[in-house]
Amino acid sequence: MAFDQRPPPYYENYAYQPENMVPPSHISGYYNHPPPYYPPSVPRYVQRVPTEQSTPVPAITQPVSSSTKICTPRIRKTLCLILFITIILLGAAIAGVLIWFYATDSCSGSKIHCGTAGVCVTPSQWCDGVNDCPNGEDENRCVRLYGPQRILQVYSSENKGWYPVCHDDWNDDHGITACADMGYKKNLYYKSQGIRVTGSPSFLRLNKSAGNIDLYKKLYNSYWCPSRSVVSLQCINCGVSRKRVNARNRIVGGSAATLGEWPWQVSLHFHNSHLCGGSIITPEWIVTAAHCVDGSYSDSYHWKVYAGILTQKEMFSFKALRIAKIISHPNYDTTTKNNDVALMKLQSPLHFNEWTGPVCLPNPGMMFEPEQKCWITGWGAQRFGGNTSNNLNAADVPLIEPSTCNNMYVYQGKVLPTMICAGYLKGKVDSCQGDSGGPLVTVKNTLWWLVGDTSWGSGCAAQNRPGVYGNMTQFTDWIYRNMQANQ
Ligand code: ARG
Repeated sequence: MAFDQRPPPYYENYAYQPENMVPPSHISGYYNHPPPYYPPSVPRYVQRVPTEQSTPVPAITQPVSSSTKICTPRIRKTLCLILFITIILLGAAIAGVLIWFYATDSCSGSKIHCGTAGVCVTPSQWCDGVNDCPNGEDENRCVRLYGPQRILQVYSSENKGWYPVCHDDWNDDHGITACADMGYKKNLYYKSQGIRVTGSPSFLRLNKSAGNIDLYKKLYNSYWCPSRSVVSLQCINCGVSRKRVNARNRIVGGSAATLGEWPWQVSLHFHNSHLCGGSIITPEWIVTAAHCVDGSYSDSYHWKVYAGILTQKEMFSFKALRIAKIISHPNYDTTTKNNDVALMKLQSPLHFNEWTGPVCLPNPGMMFEPEQKCWITGWGAQRFGGNTSNNLNAADVPLIEPSTCNNMYVYQGKVLPTMICAGYLKGKVDSCQGDSGGPLVTVKNTLWWLVGDTSWGSGCAAQNRPGVYGNMTQFTDWIYRNMQANQ
């Protein structure tokens, strides 16, 4: 967070490049690895081959050990045979496992299973309106939540549109299925509710007499819902801050946060120092910026995640979470910062408590006010060029309309549709280096939603240079598909 009053220097600040960071290409030399092992050029053991000419070694200089005595050619032959059989068996076992793996699930490397044996599609082919699976399974179970009330909608490929589902005969099992189709684990399921119908011309209804068949096969078109209500679904208990961000600790110009206020905020350490922020969205998934994990920063092994901790100092005495996988947006552009979003999958799920919990992902159709009040949080520098802060800081910033943010005095068209601006044109309050990847959140319908991820800005807190954030509503589809492909 930056709260700088001085006239800002003009620097282009598109990505975090900490001054004391060792260039990534030297990373391996930076750490004290044991000296590499090279096999000796002369073999240390040369097998003794008994030949006619070999002179027998006198017993005094080379006593015959008991092991040599039992090593008769017959025993050696048997051992060879056993070894041979073991190798054959091992090979057969490995081949078997591989055949089984490819026959039952060839969807390795972030692909989604069609349901037909061995066929898979990429996340971008899922629900894109084109049948890629043999039986069109990739277009059969397309669900989304719409608007702040999370109205469940199912895509109908026949009618080429999204339709709400009548609440009649709906139960939690249906809810669990729909949430799983968005990539949420079954155990996370929170609740389904009926919401009063608001002018949709058409609905989908559950065929009660259809028996125990797939949810989507039970749905048929209808012009009305007998209950006059549609399904509203919450797949995860998200967006709850135990501490109310009230007038006392409301931050004008930014100030230190308290524990539990921003439970989704995580600190991401690369090679043991804080580099970026991130937001928890499920026990296993963290949203951050693609520029944080670009190039040599893409190795998940060197990252550590700290959740539910307020100060950087404390983090060193806590056990960090490790990352299993990093997925950067495939269309991320390093120069323009277009699609600056990435996902991190944790090696083991987080346990939610008072201090850690997920933020809600925004749904399509969620309208924010043009100057909706939002909050930014992070351990970033407090002035441009400054060090990472020890304390987690928070500040409130209004959204800035794209037309304003792109005008000739501000970013002159550099703000793309995948970006959203927030801050003040007069400067003074902003995010800064080290805040990247961290959350820009707002409250709507009593819940906290992730509006953006900290991406770039010119300098920090400078006049006419507000912060630019990844526009999360543009990324939710991509996030859900990737969560689903990497369960
Ligand atoms: N790119 C920076 C980072 O990596 C964040 C910059 C935000 N800048 C701003 N003026 N809001 O931490």
